[in-house]
Amino acid sequence: MSQVRVLPGVPTQTTPMSEILHGPAYRIETERTVLRCYEPRDAAPLKSAVDASLDRLLPWLPWAHDEPQTLAAKIELLRQFRGKFDLGQDFIYGIFDPAETELLGGTGLHTRVGEGAREIGYWIATGHEGRGLVTETTAALVRVGFEIEHLARVEIHCDPANLRSIAIPRRLGFHHDGTLRQRIPQRHGPPTDRMIWTLLADEYTASPCSAAPVRAFDAIGRAILGPPAVKAPKGRSAFR
Ligand SMILES: CC(C)(COP(=O)(O)OP(=O)(O)OC[C@H]1O[C@@H](n2cnc3c(N)ncnc32)[C@H](O)[C@@H]1OP(=O)(O)O)[C@@H](O)C(=O)NCCC(=O)NCCS
Repeated sequence: MSQVRVLPGVPTQTTPMSEILHGPAYRIETERTVLRCYEPRDAAPLKSAVDASLDRLLPWLPWAHDEPQTLAAKIELLRQFRGKFDLGQDFIYGIFDPAETELLGGTGLHTRVGEGAREIGYWIATGHEGRGLVTETTAALVRVGFEIEHLARVEIHCDPANLRSIAIPRRLGFHHDGTLRQRIPQRHGPPTDRMIWTLLADEYTASPCSAAPVRAFDAIGRAILGPPAVKAPKGRSAFR
């Protein structure tokens, strides 16, 4: 089998066009997780993780109000996620342990914020909170966003009351652009405010995300992103 060339970040000007590997990143490996495009066979572990985490998800995630779903509904949902991923419409990832035996949470590089931009959303299952896993997966998606997708900006939207969520963009060097007032309709109660945190392409290299140890692979398993150009000091996480 021919050897696949790992491209650490943006291809150089001397890289022949025929050798430039593109996204989307179907599989992303971080130090402690694997992010990959969901498969319908992930429906049962996803249902278990969501059902067990529901009380923590309900205050912050509108989709949690439609839970718990049946297994059949989850299979259908994951067929939709997979279909949108394959069509390049939206990029929703499951967060797994490195052996892929446990589903730890969910995240995504969502296209709903317009051309040249993505919004990262996240949730982590009960029992895995406070381990830095979402910081780690978010930094990985930021690297993919800038180094593979060549985005102009990455956004994270949070409710100002969701202090655990706000800590992630703050820790990763995002800028608080502003807070939209009474903007998010709620099923029960008045609309809530929405904070917009943004990292621009020209702010990326100064952010801790650019030093995140990440490997990413395309739809047929070719490596498209390798070790960062800048490494964190030995023995230290890139984010602490
Ligand atoms: C918001 C949410 C995703 C954050 O998850 P989290 O586990 O708290 O975030 P992280 O995984 O990055 O963990 C950060 C914590 O891990 C700690 N940590 C441990 N190891 C770490 C490491 N290597 N790097 C960074 N942080 C680390 C940090 O000190 C921090 O702890 P602290 O908040 O007690 O100070 C989670 O609370 C959640 O799923 N909430 C419900 C859904 C939700 O609100 N989603 C967001 C909607 S906008």
